[in-house]
Amino acid sequence: MNAPTMQGLHVQAPAYVKNTRLIAWVADMAALCKPAKIHWCDGSREEYDQLCQQLVDAGTFRRLNPAKRPDSYLACSDPSDVARVEGRTFICSEKKEDAGPTNNWMAPAEMRATLQPLFDGCMAGRTMYVIPFSMGPLGSPIAQIGVELSDSAYVAVNMKLMTRMGRAVHDVIGAEGGFVPCMHTVGAPLAEGQKDTTAWPCNETKYIVHYPETREIWSYGSGYGGNALLGKKCLALRIASTMGRDEGWLAEHMLILGVQNPEGRKYHVAAAFPSACGKTNFSMLVPPRAFEGWQVTTIGDDIAWIKPQADGSLRAINPEAGYFGVAPGTNMQTNPNCMLSLARDVIFTNVALTDDGDVWWEGMEKDTGHLPEHLIDWKGQDWTPAIARETGAKAAHPNARFTCAATNNPALDPAWDDPAGVKIDAMIFGGRRSTTVPLVTEARDWQEGVYMAATMGSETTAAAVGQQGVVRRDPFAMLPFIGYNMSDYFQHWLDLGAKLQAAGATLPRIYCVNWFRKGADGKFVWPGYGENMRVLKWMLDRIEGRAQGQQTAFGIAPQYAEINWQGLDFSAAQFATVTHVDASAWAEELQLHDAHFDKLAWHLPPQLLATRGALQQRLGI
Ligand code: OXD
Ligand code: MN
Repeated sequence: MNAPTMQGLHVQAPAYVKNTRLIAWVADMAALCKPAKIHWCDGSREEYDQLCQQLVDAGTFRRLNPAKRPDSYLACSDPSDVARVEGRTFICSEKKEDAGPTNNWMAPAEMRATLQPLFDGCMAGRTMYVIPFSMGPLGSPIAQIGVELSDSAYVAVNMKLMTRMGRAVHDVIGAEGGFVPCMHTVGAPLAEGQKDTTAWPCNETKYIVHYPETREIWSYGSGYGGNALLGKKCLALRIASTMGRDEGWLAEHMLILGVQNPEGRKYHVAAAFPSACGKTNFSMLVPPRAFEGWQVTTIGDDIAWIKPQADGSLRAINPEAGYFGVAPGTNMQTNPNCMLSLARDVIFTNVALTDDGDVWWEGMEKDTGHLPEHLIDWKGQDWTPAIARETGAKAAHPNARFTCAATNNPALDPAWDDPAGVKIDAMIFGGRRSTTVPLVTEARDWQEGVYMAATMGSETTAAAVGQQGVVRRDPFAMLPFIGYNMSDYFQHWLDLGAKLQAAGATLPRIYCVNWFRKGADGKFVWPGYGENMRVLKWMLDRIEGRAQGQQTAFGIAPQYAEINWQGLDFSAAQFATVTHVDASAWAEELQLHDAHFDKLAWHLPPQLLATRGALQQRLGI
């Protein structure tokens, strides 16, 4: 055992921990947070089982019926701690303009002074878990190492499923290697002899803080999802996007899938959609019957790290090793591969409990044909269909989640863990818009693609606290996740494309999609889910030079006859409803683009204004 004494505290690291900076940091943080104990996570199955049992004993976890859902648990959070808190998320760069107008900002010194008293003694009476993790395949040149210190065993077991977590990480960093320090506390210290009065300790005060220059994360007060599992949004997007800007690569809110045609030609597609807009579904898509011989496989469902290679190609890895997906709406029709992934070894959060010890959420009735007669809802209350009709109570919280390892997924791509990543052939950007934006268009060039992504709008979802269903600009589906100034981020994308093109590279095609357009009756027109394969195939036909498409003001759209309609009754009139580019709607849309660009005026790339001008001209308005 290594046993330095720092600031009066004795920190015993296991012998396999050699990293002196890590040991010293743990000692410093222990001195600050004053935990009762320190547990160095080794990432083993035994440790996972032990911590899950501890969570069962504490009442945080309920073990599900092993005959129905082996090795699986249900956690129900405090009703005030159910989603990411964007209003409490800060980018603390030295200069305010480097965080930009879309991020909350505080000067690092001021934030450190604010957090210091909150973290002082914050882990009293609790265990500090030292959670070493690799974002990306262990030892991959694209991967990054992080170490999270957390007083939540729930976080430790979720990190085990979501990342490559444990002892092997220490071999990667050795004695001298770097890591991103990630501090996390639920902010609920216990006085001597005091016991928890709740199974989900947290604090009303919340801070999710990033220091991009020193690459540190400090999270206070929440135990939920992206607020607490710091490898995900905090490291793999906010901090990594800053690394990408500095080092010439991209950290994106994108799924990655492989798609192979019956002739065996395989392509890789990265696709950005806002939170809770079906990224997991798309990444696990099961092609309809008419697509016999086609195979879609998952590399990742939420985040892509994309790096330019010496040959000009872009290769991507999924930095995560598991899925933290939205449960409601998931069923055998919307996402069969996901349902199969949830058969065992799953942590469910904020779904409902059935009388036979299994889980349930809204949408599962589509598989069984009926609602359950009785449940315990996510708040621990009785739920029946009659109560739901009367009060509108949801059995599962709309942002209820499942956590499972990627290896549970029957459609997992064989290259999902390849340190070299996969070559990206196409990128998709998809907003959630009930009007205006067509089903699919291809950008005529990289710059038009960046414009499409930069102006993406979306109706908000339950993944973040706040009003639902309001349209907000969500550029690249990265609004809550860019760790620096958004205009500089646009410029980074443009510069990267220009550099690769100047070196003679063929860039991935860029597509804009919108699965969510509604008809006059207020209902979705496009069936979505597996039927999105029809759009995906058109994209590949474009890449292979087999679909001519048609020019529109907003990119190249498919002709009706270019889509394979076999097995789907979708008329030319319906197709027109979802693809029509309406000049008056676009006149309004352009005004919204202008307002969006006005907010981002500082460092806004002039190329985007030029693209906007060309779009207006094509629209003839
Ligand atoms: C997520 C999110 O959890 O985007 O993936 O909120
Ligand atoms: Mn996400």
